[in-house]
Amino acid sequence: LASIEVDISKVQPGQAIKTSWRKQPVFIRNLTEAEIEEAESVDVSKLRDPETLDERTAEGKENWLVTLGVCTHLGCVPLGVGEGENKGEYGGYFCPCHGSHYDTAARIRKGPAPTNLVVPEFEFMSDTVIRIG
Ligand code: FES
Repeated sequence: LASIEVDISKVQPGQAIKTSWRKQPVFIRNLTEAEIEEAESVDVSKLRDPETLDERTAEGKENWLVTLGVCTHLGCVPLGVGEGENKGEYGGYFCPCHGSHYDTAARIRKGPAPTNLVVPEFEFMSDTVIRIG
């Protein structure tokens, strides 16, 4: 009841999809090599909410970034999923409500949000199906 399964087989590198879980939006993003490198090149100790990309993704599947689509400031839905949507200054997600910028690991980098976008509990059922919750 509480969990959902999502087919990710059509999500190409550089693309993201939006789904919903427990009435909250969830973003699933297939990171490009460049986006992974970008996330890994950051000095984590300088981040407001210090977490590595590895800590936010499944082992061996660091390209799949699964987060709630809920800004940790006041709960707006950030942009950055659809083609051409504003991904913000750090290439991840941008919350237009008060200008929070998230990077390619969905970590807060600029603006009022106190913490990174939340990574829900999830696991890979196969290479193409993720279970969330
Ligand atoms: Fe996202 Fe305020 S709710 S910046």
